[in-house]
Amino acid sequence: MRDEKFEFEVSAAGRVNLIGEHIDYCGGKVLPAALPMRNVVSVRRNGTNAIRLSWTDLPDRISLEIGKFEQYRDCKHAKYQAGCAHFWQEAGHKLVGCDLRFNCNIPFGSGLSSSAAIEVSTIAALAVAAGEPFDKKEVALVAQRAEHEFAGVKCGIMDQYVSACGKKGNAVLLDCKRIEHTYVPVLLGDCALVIANSNKPHSLVESRYNERRAETEEALARLREKTDITCLADLTPREFEQLSSALSGTILRRTRHVVYECERVRLAVEAMRAGDMDGFGALLNASHDSLRDLYEVTGRELDSLAAAARSHPGCLGSRMTGGGFGGCTVSLIRREAREDFEKFVTERYRRETGYVPSFYAADPADGITVREL
Ligand code: GLA
Repeated sequence: MRDEKFEFEVSAAGRVNLIGEHIDYCGGKVLPAALPMRNVVSVRRNGTNAIRLSWTDLPDRISLEIGKFEQYRDCKHAKYQAGCAHFWQEAGHKLVGCDLRFNCNIPFGSGLSSSAAIEVSTIAALAVAAGEPFDKKEVALVAQRAEHEFAGVKCGIMDQYVSACGKKGNAVLLDCKRIEHTYVPVLLGDCALVIANSNKPHSLVESRYNERRAETEEALARLREKTDITCLADLTPREFEQLSSALSGTILRRTRHVVYECERVRLAVEAMRAGDMDGFGALLNASHDSLRDLYEVTGRELDSLAAAARSHPGCLGSRMTGGGFGGCTVSLIRREAREDFEKFVTERYRRETGYVPSFYAADPADGITVREL
């Protein structure tokens, strides 16, 4: 298939979360940014009753019959697209037969939201093929539903939302309780954000993720016997300390992480606005430590990668980003130190774990884009 035969090119972004980890599904505010790495869908109407999928890097060709999407639930490569088409149609939108060709340059299973980018760009592509305008927030919500029901991950709204609504040069301060956002310009002075991929293959991510989510739900149910909150993020640190005797053990640790991570997001936005890079970096470190010690989603490789980053003199802070259990870190470094930083981290991390990391720039980009060809 040649490019010129397609009518549109629709894309959605991968994301890096700067801070606010594992709190989106607790109603917290999070601070992700869309990445230049993205999933690009080439689109053309085909005049049939099918959505035909192909990939630039896979030999598979899968044809999804419109209205019969349920049967593709277990289809490894097509379940995201099938779920998206299913729920988009269920939400009352028109679908037309079309060919969608996928080209994703977000590394899979790296915690940079390749699946959200695939989902969001699929829905936007379906709307474009049908000649209908779309609301980015609705696209994100339908994409999240597809992830829940067809991919089996009870994710929060962060990834799909920023993949759709990201804005160049900005982080998205997303209020996951109200599902609304403001943009925060990413102004880092003489610093830069660098993503490092641990290149540790994920394992059991879905089940461990869903387990964390269930733990926070249990904490909320117990706390609601004592106080009138609708989500864990409603608790201020002070209220939490007063109520914490209602919880114990693992559930108490998980809740402590959520409450203080919410507070760190607030402080991080203040630090960024004030140009306080040391303060911002310290919050990144505190976030990682809490995810390691209280939420227990880091693991040996991410801990080693963050520690290697922090021991470089040009680094102001480093933390895991995304769901955890493998994946990536994001570090705040002095711009001029970048080359030396990458060399240093590579050597140290490889010595400790045997894996070689990959590095990517984390310059905030746009969410959904549509281009007529
Ligand atoms: C995954 C989920 C998000 C969020 C992060 C952790 O990326 O998809 O909804 O919960 O983990 O912050």
